[in-house]
Amino acid sequence: MYKIIKKRVLNPSVKSMEVYAPAIAKKAEPGQFIILRVHEKGERIPLTISDFNRDKGTVTITFQEVGKTTKLLGRLEEGEEILDFVGPLGKASELEGYKKVAVIGGGLGTAIAYPQAKKLHNLGAEVHSIVGFRNKDLIIYEEELNQVSDKVFITTDDGSNGHKGFVSDVLQQLIEEGNKYDLVIAIGPLIMMKVVSELTKKYGIKTIVSMNTIMIDGTGMCGGCRVTVGGEIKFACVDGPDFDGHLVDFDEAMRRGAMYKEEEAYSDHICKI
Ligand code: FES
Repeated sequence: MYKIIKKRVLNPSVKSMEVYAPAIAKKAEPGQFIILRVHEKGERIPLTISDFNRDKGTVTITFQEVGKTTKLLGRLEEGEEILDFVGPLGKASELEGYKKVAVIGGGLGTAIAYPQAKKLHNLGAEVHSIVGFRNKDLIIYEEELNQVSDKVFITTDDGSNGHKGFVSDVLQQLIEEGNKYDLVIAIGPLIMMKVVSELTKKYGIKTIVSMNTIMIDGTGMCGGCRVTVGGEIKFACVDGPDFDGHLVDFDEAMRRGAMYKEEEAYSDHICKI
């Protein structure tokens, strides 16, 4: 059992939990994820690690309450326990050797982009974080990003905070102003990662995206997390979740991501009654 040490409500639907899991905290690196199960009959869901503290033995997860399991998880309080918490899974992000990096987060993806920005900053890279939300009330991780970034740019769809528009607009403007990024990391909705990757391809800037696919076992056995990258089938859980954004077939990933919408809606409905 894995005890929740700290719980934070970041916006009306996003919560963050610091979980005592020393064996995972010891090995965790940015880009990796855990799979958890809230109770014995519960489904297994993957959540990317949004922070870890090796001294305290804790791993932080940040999640949006969008389906049955994330809603059940969100009801747990500090001191309560999560039944299964397995990890770290997936390959760690390769972040060594970069001088200037744009780290892009869309919505909840901002929490997952944070450990990347933090590690790049600790490695001495200049970090520009560009993060986008629908409106000002949904902004998360602003303070944390400010501590590990040379500059933070916020965008909102409605213009209620920062630039009105999308993260890709700001990235394009920064590139055109002469910022020479040797890497762009984009984490968030598939459509955002697709648009960013198309933009950086034009400028020839290496781009890493994090594929948050459907996952079941998380160990390369079921094939549920498959993505096509450069014409080859890859498994996000063992070959990723990071992939070259210029090679990912985002349209296929979007079709696969929508495959179980009906079942998810039904499951969520059952959860409410
Ligand atoms: Fe089963 Fe990746 S989750 S192969």
